[in-house]
Order: sequence, then C-alpha cells, then structure tokens
Amino acid sequence: MQSWSFKEGFGLDNLVKTDEVMPEVGPRDVLLEMHAASLNYRDLVVMQGGHGRSVAPPLVPLSDGVGKIVATGRQVADFAVGDRVCPAFYQHWYGGAPPANLEKGRLGGPLDGVLATHRVFAAETLVRIPEYLSDAEAAALPCAGVTAWSALNEPTSLRSGETVLVQGTGGVALMALQLAKAMGARVIMTTSTPAKAKQLRELGADDVIDRSKVSNWHHLVQEMTEGRGVDRVLELGGATTLNTSVKSVKTGGTVLLIGNVTGNVAELFLPLLLSRRITLHAVSVGSQETFRSLCKVLQFHRIRPVIGKLFDFDDALLAFGTLESGEVFGKVCVSCQPDRNK
Ligand SMILES: NC(=O)c1ccc[n+]([C@@H]2O[C@H](COP(=O)([O-])OP(=O)(O)OC[C@H]3O[C@@H](n4cnc5c(N)ncnc54)[C@H](OP(=O)(O)O)[C@@H]3O)[C@@H](O)[C@H]2O)c1
Repeated sequence: MQSWSFKEGFGLDNLVKTDEVMPEVGPRDVLLEMHAASLNYRDLVVMQGGHGRSVAPPLVPLSDGVGKIVATGRQVADFAVGDRVCPAFYQHWYGGAPPANLEKGRLGGPLDGVLATHRVFAAETLVRIPEYLSDAEAAALPCAGVTAWSALNEPTSLRSGETVLVQGTGGVALMALQLAKAMGARVIMTTSTPAKAKQLRELGADDVIDRSKVSNWHHLVQEMTEGRGVDRVLELGGATTLNTSVKSVKTGGTVLLIGNVTGNVAELFLPLLLSRRITLHAVSVGSQETFRSLCKVLQFHRIRPVIGKLFDFDDALLAFGTLESGEVFGKVCVSCQPDRNK
C-alpha cells in the first residue's frame, strides 16, 4: 500500500508518498481500499502547520474520504466486504452531545487521515454511503457535507419558507445551498466574482451578492428581505464578516459560527446582539448520527455534491495549491488508487 504523509514537518515540501506495510486488521476493524479523498480549508491550515501542537507529524493528511471494505475483523457484524463507506470526521462522536475530548478524534490531524491507498478503521466509525454517489461525491461528505447539514439543523431545523444567507463557494457553502433549497428555503449567497455568482444561480441560489463590489453587504440583505433580515446566516468568513452577518440576521435570528477564512479574532458590538436577541451558535462538523441523517436526505433528493477537480493519487500535491487558489468551483478531490481516476 502507499500513503502520503508529512514526515519531518509541515508544508508541501515535507508531504511525501511512501510504500508502507499493509496494516493489521483487529477483531473489530475493517480494511478499506480507499477510492477518493477530498480537501477542505482545514487541510490547508494543517498543511501550513497552523493547527496547534496537538496536530504534529508524522501525519497522513485529509479527513474526508471514501473506500470499499476489503477485509473485516472476526467480530465485525454490521459491515461486509464490498460495502462502500466513509470514515467519520470525528472518530468517537457517535451521536447526541459531543464527547469532552472532541478535538482528539479528528481525522487528518491529530489522527492519521485518508490520503492513502488503504486504511484500517474501527467498524463503529464508518458510515454507509448511498449507491448513486460517485466516489468523489461521497468523499465530499464527512466534513463539508456534515457541517452544512448541522448548520441547517442546529439549534433548530431550518423551515420551508425561511431565508438563509450562506457565505462563499467553498465545500460547506455549496452543500448548504443545495440542502437549503431542498428544504424549501430562500437562499442568499455571497461570493467574490461574477463567474462564481453565475454558477451559484445555476445551482439554485435565489440571490447572490458580489462581495468584491460591496463590503457592507448587510444593506443589500436588508433590502432583499424588506428590512426584516434573514432567519439564519452560515458564517464562514470569520473575523471580517461576523459583524456584517449579525447585521444581516433578523431580530431573534441565528448566526451559525462555522468558519474563519478571514481570521480568528473578531470584535463584536454587543448591543447589536443583545437588543435584537441574536443567537450565536457554534458548529463543529457533527456526529456519525448526523452523517447518517445527511445520507438519507441526500438520497431522498438525489443531491450530488459539486466536484470541481479530481486529481490522480500521484498528483495529490497539486490538489492543495488548487484549493488554495480559490479558482475552482466545487470540491477539489484526489483519487486514492494510483491508476484509477473516475
Ligand atoms: N466549524 C466547523 O465544523 C467547520 C467545518 C468545515 C469547515 N469549517 C470552516 O469553514 C470555512 C470554509 O471551509 P471550506 O472547507 O468550505 O472552505 P473552502 O472550500 O476552502 O472554501 C473557502 C471559501 O471561502 C470563501 N471566502 C474567501 N474569502 C472570503 C471572505 N473574505 N469572505 C467570505 N468568504 C470568503 C471563498 O468563496 P468565494 O470566493 O466564493 O467568496 C472560498 O471558496 C473554513 O474557515 C473552515 O475552517 C468549519
């Protein structure tokens, strides 16, 4: 088997492909032949060594992948050889409230990720994937898909007829757009170029704001909602967008804190929240239970995650630069079998 891993340190110069011994399969484990992996913004942060001391080399990167079971331990009853599954982002968050040591169970740092031809996982950490999805589409689900689904269902579920604002065209944002439309919501998106705005409309966005032309876009959101504000905002920008998000949400509305692409430290004018009873709710991907419910809703609506580019296993390094460029609309994926790129 082969895997990519940060050996001596972080940075792309330290990400190397090596031949490894096939791992042992314990009694409650399965061996996955990995088929595809996808990249998230978080994988760029990990690659740059920006995820704190708990995430350290040697490390196999990427949390999101899909594979086929090729061997099972003798105590595994729920899965069989041939099943196609994704390992969950949080290996030990099965459902309900998150465990206290949530951060320790993340794939792609601190735990080894999925950018490998084969990986062994405990059977209890796996989620079966709908048949109609391609491998690349399935690989888009464990972090980006589950996060989008959590953000539309926490602390309460989005209801048909409500209005939601989603920032950007990243993996979480596109999945949220597709899911929110399926739930009967009106969706307002922000993006950075007219070309991406056009693609968002084609994917179902009701309104699109080009944030490169207007920074205080809450005025536009207020106009679009007759001065009421949206029911919820999926806050992906972080430091420089949080205030605009708060000003875009209705009285009694919710801002889902998800991302930090513009920075980690934000300053908030508290009366804006207090006088309008705004809820700030943090999202941390989601549990395996949430992942299973996402699969059901995807299957019901036949939703397919948008795939921007699929790289060969040997070209995995190029995938990082492509995600970083922000030029691709849709998920950046890598095939995990050296001669297969489907
Ligand atoms: N809390 C959680 O559980 C969780 C889970 C997943 C991801 N996240 C976080 O969510 C964020 C997005 O992750 P992702 O993997 O979906 O990212 P991604 O696929 O790398 O996409 C990032 C997107 O951010 C948008 N963007 C860039 N600068 C922006 C700005 N100034 N204002 C608003 N949007 C901007 C860009 O879209 P446009 O060019 O179209 O604007 C870009 O496509 C990251 O901060 C990530 O760490 C959090």
